[in-house]
Amino acid sequence: MPNSAFIIKNGFIIDPSQNIEGVGDLLVENGKIAGIYFKNGKKDPKKNGAANKEIKTIDASGRYVLPGLIDMHVHLREPGFEHKENINTGTRAAVNGGFTSVCCMPNTDPVNDNATVTSYIIKKAREQGICNVYPIGAITKAQKGEELAEFGMMREAGCIGFSDDGHPVTNSLMMRRALEYSKIFDSPIISHCEDLLLADSGVMNEGAVSSMLGLKGIPSGAEDIMVARDILLAKLTGGRLHIAHVSTKCSVALIRRAKEQGIRVTAETCPHYFTITDKAVIGYNTSAKVNPPLRTEEDIEAIKEGLRDGTIDVIATDHAPHHKDEKLQEFDKAPSGISGLETALGLSLALVRNGVISMKQLAEKMCLNPSLITGVRAGNLKQGSDADIVIIDQDAEFTVDADKLLSKGKNTPFCGVKLKGLPVITIVKGNIYERQH
Ligand code: DOR
Repeated sequence: MPNSAFIIKNGFIIDPSQNIEGVGDLLVENGKIAGIYFKNGKKDPKKNGAANKEIKTIDASGRYVLPGLIDMHVHLREPGFEHKENINTGTRAAVNGGFTSVCCMPNTDPVNDNATVTSYIIKKAREQGICNVYPIGAITKAQKGEELAEFGMMREAGCIGFSDDGHPVTNSLMMRRALEYSKIFDSPIISHCEDLLLADSGVMNEGAVSSMLGLKGIPSGAEDIMVARDILLAKLTGGRLHIAHVSTKCSVALIRRAKEQGIRVTAETCPHYFTITDKAVIGYNTSAKVNPPLRTEEDIEAIKEGLRDGTIDVIATDHAPHHKDEKLQEFDKAPSGISGLETALGLSLALVRNGVISMKQLAEKMCLNPSLITGVRAGNLKQGSDADIVIIDQDAEFTVDADKLLSKGKNTPFCGVKLKGLPVITIVKGNIYERQH
């Protein structure tokens, strides 16, 4: 922990956890938030003892100062798939994208379905990571859907939730048991909603574009049916359900209705699902191959409405890096996934610029809500909290260049796209990182 103090001056500070929004100064001491001082005369840091010392100043005039972003859905690929990503590169990509905490999915090799793998990830993250890493344990052993994993041991070792992400839990009884069992630990069950029989080995969204390209389609119903099933199971069990990577209009409607009924369900979507459609696949672009697949304009509009009205609680990346050679295969054979950590904020800020959500809502969806759902102690600027902070220049423009991403995963469909809004400085426990490229 850096044994020093610095002050971030004149930024527009937003912290939904304290209902804070306004221009002010933020003082950091010894890696912790020491205080926020507003210009409206509440408190002046110059009169504060710490500020009388010669301390470093970061000028944040005209910039936003938010709690460090939390990504509750990433694939760091370690152990087992280090050719795609590892904890070192993945956390560097996270910090470059403004994230100070990431929750990593268990589809590693071996699968994170036991305390030994959980502890390994945490140890590796301490040694080689540069941001906070919170593992998500598997729901079922080896993610095979046949036997529940040991939630208690994984929870004790540091898992903050359970998911078979990458695979659905096909067996409804197994999902029922998972939702019941997880109640003991008050952990979310994060569901990858996909009816595999209906998906029928499809490789993109089913519709006009799949017909044109001659690729086998996945109907949106493959997601909707599982969302409906899991909502009903959450109702039956009283368990805490979180729907991962929502991509369809119908899923949004189902989740909205469930929330109205008081069922314990939360949901996330990812920037690619509110930014581009299945047309991005034209040209057999494997960088646009993702699961669930990119959908249609109608779905995008529904997802935006879901973000606006609070049906969708979280923007996560589903950062899914793959090796270049894997993505270079034919479309049918290439693995699904988009490298998302370093473009997520720029893409999400477009929602703010276009009036879909406010900047405060963005902070809710990328800081506060992921912390409330996962229980990680982050996502706020309260006095005494770790100094996890992001400073955003909402006007800075950059053109996405896959080769310059710090992630090993260069698989982005946003290559060459000009984005507006950059996390110019990301601070993790008082350590300051400037955005690279
Ligand atoms: O596109 C995806 N890639 N969706 C998933 O659910 C898993 C992920 C991966 O692990 O590559």
